[in-house]
Amino acid sequence: MPYTVPKLTDFSASALASAVRDLFSALDSESVAVHNDADWKSFRDRWMARKNGILTQVNDVWLKAAPKEVKRDVGQRVNAVRARVEEQVDSIRPKRVFSFRRSEGRVVEPEPAVAATGARGPTVIISEPRPLDISLPGIHRPIGAEHPVIQTMNEIVSVFRNLGYSVEEGPEIETDYYNFESLNFPPNHPARDTQDTLFIANQESKPLRERLLLRTHTSPVQIRTMEKLKPPIRIVIPGKVYRNDPPDASHSPMFHQIEGLAVDYNIKFGDLKGTLDHFIKALLGSSVKTRFKPSFFPFTEPSAEMMVSCFICGGSGWRGNDPCRPCKQSGWIEILGCGMVDPNVFEFVKDNGYDPKKVSGFAFGMGADRLAILKYGVDDIQLFFQGDVRFLEQFG
Ligand code: DAH
Repeated sequence: MPYTVPKLTDFSASALASAVRDLFSALDSESVAVHNDADWKSFRDRWMARKNGILTQVNDVWLKAAPKEVKRDVGQRVNAVRARVEEQVDSIRPKRVFSFRRSEGRVVEPEPAVAATGARGPTVIISEPRPLDISLPGIHRPIGAEHPVIQTMNEIVSVFRNLGYSVEEGPEIETDYYNFESLNFPPNHPARDTQDTLFIANQESKPLRERLLLRTHTSPVQIRTMEKLKPPIRIVIPGKVYRNDPPDASHSPMFHQIEGLAVDYNIKFGDLKGTLDHFIKALLGSSVKTRFKPSFFPFTEPSAEMMVSCFICGGSGWRGNDPCRPCKQSGWIEILGCGMVDPNVFEFVKDNGYDPKKVSGFAFGMGADRLAILKYGVDDIQLFFQGDVRFLEQFG
């Protein structure tokens, strides 16, 4: 007699246990009779079909009919029955194995082979591959987002693109010549000390100008580009730079800069001021004000730092009753270094049309990470480089 799910009148623990025992023994004896794929399918349907399969009957006849006070117990048993039946159906499923006949080194038509059987599984021969089940859920692949530093760099670059600038790039491992000498940092000049340089080891046998280091700024790409392109040029140079700074909330041994250079036949300091004032208003909004403070860089003369009125406190130095931290209550934030290209720099590329008596230009450089920190109100630069998705997804 094939097994049928009995109606229960007694829902006591012992009666339930015995009903479950009977069901499992029917499950085991019917499993043994499964010999091929067709057997397995009818076995699966008998036990698991939604409409009137044994599991459905168990649900209807045992669980739904159970009195309220024992429903929880019965529910737990029914769940255990379901798990065991599903496991059994899965474990005796005939396995598909194909062998490949090799002919002259080429793989030819797969040949059905005798399946290796599991402990309880039958041996079957399978001829058809299983059809693709398109009703199964697909694999969810989350879409990434642009990193906040890259977002900021792209915004900066796009302001300059709209002014007709093009983008240049250069190597992160640089020679002393490009990083220092051709930018008017003579050997042993104290200005080199301001750029805590990471040198590549074992370079001592080379002449100084050929020794390798990790570039400390994007400025070397100014010279590389002027060697390549004749004046006039207008370029921006985004990229990674490196310094021997221990990491803390505002320092990182690797960070990002954007450099700019414009060289033509009649460029003046007024062009620099107008360009950079337009740039920062395009980036932060037209209500910010700019101010230029004298400074020093070996490769520009005169040199300046551009300050922008604090766009966090509006220049007042206060946020409500609290002092404004980003501008240190001064109402101004230092945004970038800039200046008129020093004629000594043009001397290094004179042969490519940059005669210091004829051409003039301005240059500028800024830290992209610092701008991103100010823009998004992030309080620790390290957050940008730790790759924590909980932080990064906030910028998606
Ligand atoms: N290279 C400078 C630095 O890393 C930044 C800089 C200042 C770049 C003035 C310039 C410039 O092009 O004109 O500190």
